[in-house]
Amino acid sequence: MRDPKSILITGASSGIGEALAEAYAAPGVFLALTGRDAARTEAVAAACRAQGADVLAETVGAEDTAAMPAFIARAHARRPLDLVIANAGISAGTGGKGENAAQARRIFDVNVQGVVNTVSPAVELLMQKPRADAAPRGQIAIVASLAAFRGFPGALAYCASKAAVKVWGEGLRGELHRHGIEVSVICPGYVRTRMTEGNTFPMPLLMDANRAVRIIRRGLERNRARIAFPWRLAFLVNLIAALPPGWTDPLFRKLPKKSAAAS
Ligand SMILES: NC(=O)c1ccc[n+]([C@@H]2O[C@H](COP(=O)([O-])OP(=O)(O)OC[C@H]3O[C@@H](n4cnc5c(N)ncnc54)[C@H](OP(=O)(O)O)[C@@H]3O)[C@@H](O)[C@H]2O)c1
Repeated sequence: MRDPKSILITGASSGIGEALAEAYAAPGVFLALTGRDAARTEAVAAACRAQGADVLAETVGAEDTAAMPAFIARAHARRPLDLVIANAGISAGTGGKGENAAQARRIFDVNVQGVVNTVSPAVELLMQKPRADAAPRGQIAIVASLAAFRGFPGALAYCASKAAVKVWGEGLRGELHRHGIEVSVICPGYVRTRMTEGNTFPMPLLMDANRAVRIIRRGLERNRARIAFPWRLAFLVNLIAALPPGWTDPLFRKLPKKSAAAS
């Protein structure tokens, strides 16, 4: 949607979420921001206020099925939301030792449950917004990943969690179209953030968060179903995903694994 004025972003205390918040911050814009780390969340809120935005910032665990909808309701009551970006997410390194069940559950809690906890209450509220002519009631953006297209050894739950929200968002787009709610799924490649800073393996076409945000904003303005970038990596991942697993498995077994110390 063009020119959203009331925007909610989860995971806005760092990386892509922080860069999105600062890109949208302007006089006349209301931003509802969440993070886990209070100091980091407040620092981003202060930077956005300095750019003239009205900001509501709180530390809310995305996986909290009560706190997350309550925060969204508070934000919507302050100013009816135009754009909701479900961005909060985590990954976990295994150092090639295999992912344990606790790591997998935590990733699914934040990356899947957290997205549902953000998007579902937001959709309920957007549905109640009056609709002027054919203008959209609002827009939902779900941050998945290029990792959603194929299971990678070393990032099992991460890939699976991103595949879940990618496919969920694609279906949701079709379902909500007639209600005037736009849905876009965002699939970034490697972006330089806290999430990738501990990676010791080569990250092809790594880009900074501000560049990623320019691509995301443009895609959201055009109501793109899928915002996958950089396009060369997106093309490669799609190609690999289309090949028979029997051909690609030997290659994937050799890929370096995310360090156990990395988050
Ligand atoms: N970086 C990449 O290469 C890349 C590629 C594809 C997709 N993505 C996706 O992009 C999104 C943003 O990641 P990023 O790269 O910007 O990483 P990041 O710098 O680590 O930021 C992650 C954000 O999510 C928040 N968060 C983590 N767990 C949370 C929880 N349980 N409840 C609420 N907030 C939580 C973090 O809060 P705190 O700062 O307070 O901990 C932080 O604000 C994620 O969904 C990630 O999977 C990233």
